[in-house]
Amino acid sequence: MASFQRKGPKARVLSAEEEEKLQRDQALVSDFKQQKLEKEAQKNWDLFYKRNSTNFFKDRHWTTREFEELRSCREYEGQKLTMLEAGCGVGNCLFPLLEEDLNIFAYACDFSPRAVDYVKQNPLYNSERCKVFQCDLTRDDLLDHVPPESVDAVTLIFVLSAVHPEKMHLVLQNIYKVLKPGRSVLFRDYGLYDHAMLRFKAGSKLGENFYVRQDGTRSYFFTDEYLAQLFVNAGYEEMLNEYVFRETVNKKEGLCVPRVFLQSKFRKPQKDLDSATMGLCYQAGDFASP
Ligand SMILES: C[S@@+](CC[C@H](N)C(=O)[O-])C[C@H]1O[C@@H](n2cnc3c(N)ncnc32)[C@H](O)[C@@H]1O
Repeated sequence: MASFQRKGPKARVLSAEEEEKLQRDQALVSDFKQQKLEKEAQKNWDLFYKRNSTNFFKDRHWTTREFEELRSCREYEGQKLTMLEAGCGVGNCLFPLLEEDLNIFAYACDFSPRAVDYVKQNPLYNSERCKVFQCDLTRDDLLDHVPPESVDAVTLIFVLSAVHPEKMHLVLQNIYKVLKPGRSVLFRDYGLYDHAMLRFKAGSKLGENFYVRQDGTRSYFFTDEYLAQLFVNAGYEEMLNEYVFRETVNKKEGLCVPRVFLQSKFRKPQKDLDSATMGLCYQAGDFASP
C-alpha cells in the first residue's frame, strides 16, 4: 500500500469512463423521498451512531498539522484558545486536539443526541476543558451555549456536506455570531469527483453533486467556487481554499483510490476601526431623523 498526497487549485479531471458513468446516472430521487430524508436527517445520523458506536471514523490527528492557524493565531506561547468543533460526531477531531494542545478550551456540538452522549462518556472528556451540547446548526442558535464573538477558531470537518445545500448558509451565519472578528473557520470536506462520489449507484442522486447513502445520510461534494461563494455571501473573507488529492495505491491488487477533499480557511473580517470607535462615541438613536 502506498499513499500520495498533493494540493492544488484545480478540480480533478475525470477519465472518459468516469465521465460517462456520471452522465448516465442523472435521475433524481423523488421529491417525496427527498423531503422525508430532510425531515429525518437527525434521526438517520443518530441511527448511524447507534449502529457504529464510536468505531466508524478514525481519530483525526492531522488537524493541528494541517491547520497551522491553531498555533499561529496565538499572540504569545501558551495563550489559551477557545474553539468550537461544529458537528463533532463522537469526538474524532475534538479529542486529538485537546490531547495535543493543553491550552485549548473547546465547545463541541452535534445534532445527534447519541453522538453527544458518546463524547460525554469518553474518558478524555473533562468539563473544565470542554463543553459539549446538542444543536442543529441549521436551526438552533449557537448563542444559547456560546457567548457572542468569543471563539478563536471553528473547525467544520466533514459536516457541511451532510447538510442540505439550501440550508448550508444557515450553518455559516450561525457560526459567524460566535466567532471573534479576525478569526477563522477551518474547513475540510469532500471535494468534487472524490472516489465516494463516483461509487454511488444509480438512484442515489439528490441534486447537483449531492447524493444519499444506503443509510439515509447525505453527502455533498464541493467545488472551491461553490464553497467560496457560500462563505463570502455569509460575510467571511477567503484565506485558503484548495483541493487535497490523495491516492492510495494497492499494488498487489492493482487498485488505486483517488480521494479528493477541499481544505479551506475563511475569516470573519476584523472590525472596521472607524465604526468600532463610532460605536463607542455615539449612542443608538443619535442618528435618528427628527
Ligand atoms: C462525518 S461526521 C464528522 C464528525 C466530526 N467532525 C469528525 O471530524 O469526526 C458528520 C457529523 O455532522 C453531524 N451533523 C450533520 N448535520 C448536522 C446539523 N444540521 N447540525 C449539527 N450536526 C450535524 C452528524 O451528526 C455527524 O456527527
